[in-house]
Parts: sequence; structure tokens; C-alpha cells
Amino acid sequence: MIVAIDGPAGSGKSSTARAVAARLKVAFLDTGAMYRAVTLKALRMGIAFTDDAALERIMPQTSIEFEGAAPDTRIIMDGEDVSALVRGDDVTKNVSDYCARDVVRKSLVEQQRFIASKSSLVCEGRDMCTVVFPDAEVKIFMIASVTERARRRQKDFAAMGIDKTIEELEEEIAARDAKDSSRANSPLKKADGAVEMDTTGMTLEEQIDFIVDKALPFLS
Ligand code: DC
Repeated sequence: MIVAIDGPAGSGKSSTARAVAARLKVAFLDTGAMYRAVTLKALRMGIAFTDDAALERIMPQTSIEFEGAAPDTRIIMDGEDVSALVRGDDVTKNVSDYCARDVVRKSLVEQQRFIASKSSLVCEGRDMCTVVFPDAEVKIFMIASVTERARRRQKDFAAMGIDKTIEELEEEIAARDAKDSSRANSPLKKADGAVEMDTTGMTLEEQIDFIVDKALPFLS
């Protein structure tokens, strides 16, 4: 069984998806973290996002694995736990550019489908319902207002000791939305058959219950 969740940054996807996976006792697949890990590696190696030849070379040599049960699933790249590093400012600012490249998407989509062929899971990203798993049993498109999303991001950054204003974050979020929604390759949009869920006024518990209720009939 696949529960697929798409939505923009800060819509509540990640924390909700992790908790839903934990509640259903299935795996959790954070596809944004996969794009972030590739971005981290490319930045470390000094590979520009426009250098498709170099990106194509590193993709097959990059191992990305998830360890631990939800909600505490960690991402391991080439044997290194990069869970915290992929959330850093530098990766966050650059990931939209790297994730738009065909060579990167093709390789990561293949890996995502392979992971899903092995077990039931809850996954979240931008193209889960539209491209990667169009036949998922449960398809959700999660949204929230830009201000609400900026508030949530501010909290996340504060926990990492980074101080950012709401205005600054609103600008960053709007810029990333525009890039993610307007790119030619797998743009962010609501899939046919996906249920739209506005989390602006919802608590985390309400969000979790909403999705768990939809998924339970499909759990054997
Ligand atoms: O959800 P996130 O902020 O961790 O995602 C990081 C970036 O990766 C974001 O710019 C959108 C992109 N992404 C994507 O293009 N496709 C996915 N399935 C998941 C994330």
C-alpha cells in the first residue's frame, strides 16, 4: 500500500507523513531529503547544477538509504548520516536548481519506485501522486498559506539556531514555490484523484487522523 503526499514547502507534509507512517507501522520515504542529499554532494564536489555530465556521473555512484523506523527515519548518503546537514541553509537555497535536472530526477524516481516495490510506505514530495506513484491507494495534496508556512519554517530554523524574519522566509518560500511549480520537469501540482487538504487551521493530530482514516481500509 502506498500513501502519497505532495505539497509545497512548509505545508506540513514532512511531520504529518512521518507520524502517519509511524501510526500505520509502515516505512517512511522522504523524497525531498533524497534531492537534498544529491544537492549536498554536488555542492561539496563543486559541481554546478548546469553540469549535467558531472551529475550523470555521480548519480550511479551515490548511495542513498533510509535507516530507522518512522518518525525518526534518518537519511544516509554514501554511509554518512546527513539528516541534519541536508536541512542546512546552503542546501535549502540550492536544491530547487539541482532537483529540476532530468538526470537527477530520473535516477531518484527509479530508486523511489524500487524502495516502494519492497514494502508498504508513506512518501512525500512534489511529484509522488502525479508522476512517481499515480496509482497510489491514497493520494493527498497538502497546502497551507504562505504566512503559516513561513511561521513553521521559522520554528524549524530557530531549533537549528538560525534566526530569520517571517518576511525573509515568505520571500524564500514564494521563490521556491514559483520554481517548483513552473519547472518543465514534474512541476508541483495537484494530481487527478488527489484529495486537497488545507492545513492552515489544522493541528498536527488532525492532519494525521485525516490521512490515517483514508489509509486504514487499504492496510491488510
Ligand atoms: O520537501 P523539501 O523541502 O525537503 O524538498 C526539497 C526540494 O526538493 C524542493 O525544492 C522540492 C524538491 N523536491 C522535488 O522536486 N520532488 C520531490 N519528490 C521532492 C522534493
